[in-house]
Amino acid sequence: MSELKYEDQEWQKEMKISLDVNNMFAEQVGEEHGLTVKDVESLEKRLLTAHEAIQEAKAAGEMGFMELPAGQQEVVEEIEELVAARRGEFENFVVLGIGGSALGAIALDTALNPPYYKLDSATRETPRLFVPDNVDPARLENLLATIDLEKTLFNVISKSGGTAETMSQFLIARDLVAQELGSEKVAEHFIATTSRDSGNLIKIAKEEGMPTFYIPENVGGRFSVLSPVGLLPAAFCGIDIKELLAGAEYMDQLCAKKEVWENPAYLNATLQYLADQQGKSISVMMPYVHALKDVADWYRQLWAESLGKEKDRNGQVVNVGPTPIKALGATDQHSQVQLYMAGPYDKVITLLAVEDYGAEMEIPKLYQDIEGVAYLGGNTLNELIQTERLATELALTKNQRLNCTITLPEVNEFTMGQLLYMFELQTAFAGELYNINAFNQPGVELGKAYTYGILGRSGFADKKEEFEARPEKDDGFIV
Ligand code: PA5
Repeated sequence: MSELKYEDQEWQKEMKISLDVNNMFAEQVGEEHGLTVKDVESLEKRLLTAHEAIQEAKAAGEMGFMELPAGQQEVVEEIEELVAARRGEFENFVVLGIGGSALGAIALDTALNPPYYKLDSATRETPRLFVPDNVDPARLENLLATIDLEKTLFNVISKSGGTAETMSQFLIARDLVAQELGSEKVAEHFIATTSRDSGNLIKIAKEEGMPTFYIPENVGGRFSVLSPVGLLPAAFCGIDIKELLAGAEYMDQLCAKKEVWENPAYLNATLQYLADQQGKSISVMMPYVHALKDVADWYRQLWAESLGKEKDRNGQVVNVGPTPIKALGATDQHSQVQLYMAGPYDKVITLLAVEDYGAEMEIPKLYQDIEGVAYLGGNTLNELIQTERLATELALTKNQRLNCTITLPEVNEFTMGQLLYMFELQTAFAGELYNINAFNQPGVELGKAYTYGILGRSGFADKKEEFEARPEKDDGFIV
């Protein structure tokens, strides 16, 4: 066996993730709501066109996320060298970023680091990751007051180099470091990840002499987890980024075929699209693995911002986009599942499962004379959560609710790389089926422009005027 597990082909096969779509079809959920093979066949030409469009865009260098798994040897080396050079210096690694510049790092950290490692930093060689991912003053103030700045490395991440939330976080942290540790220490405590040629962050980073990593121009924020955006925080916080990229590359190979039945990303995109066309416009992702909780959050942004569009590629107003919802098993069996089982038939539920949780806990055999408690003893928590997932799957199916299951043999870097890459390709393919541009986000611009105008940014005075001239609110509607 090779020294690097992910280079061992037998191990790769054992770690292959699987997608089970049985319960999307009429055979399992019944004819009224279930999809049919004919539904898939009816899209045959469009599926081929979508595949060709992706291949053409890839050849034209427009699918930057597809180049990340196998095309970053130098970047990986550079990251690993920096991590090695700074080893032992920091207890905390703080990402200053938002949206696509934050959610990937959070998802990787939750998935691949032990659940409570932040309480146990003394025993770890690598720093704890913190990602405020917001500009709520109470949150950032408390973080900065709690961590030891001397032992903190900040990674400010913004592709545009101008996002108001990120730049504000950076200005606050930079000012504090300069005040408490001295201006000459700024470059030691900050790393910038941004666009190579545009935006203000690159200018500032150069002026300050900060180490800098670049986000390829053809990789958008929500598709950037496998670029330095996600790789740098991951590597600093103890995650094997080579294995992560190897997993993504493996999935890229699994998704090489144009036939949807042999391509998990295409198949899932196609079925989600068909379900949406048939009125199931809410897409729930429900991991029965706590470690994948934030993958559902990351995916929620990917699916929503990529597919929620006003216009199609021909400029026609279409107002499309399924609504992604994140849930968590078994927790949300006590919160959301009542709705999923009995509410409107407007959802598709994707369950995420794992075969090996990496821990086993036996439930002690206590109170054997109490019938409602006795049956638990002797089982494991593993059996309990797996049984609950299978029971939910069956109940959803019996209630004619479309659902599918993605299973990871275990949660590790290699399976995470597969999962994230599969969802990215699935999203790009779905974008083709909806005939929209999955890589822009014009819908968020107006809100930003009002914010800039109100805060006095030059060039946005008209937005300030519009804000000031907004219709008065009627007190009768405020109680
Ligand atoms: O997916 C996207 O493009 C967005 O969610 C961005 O990641 C987010 O708006 C942050 O942008 P930036 O990295 O330019 O600060």
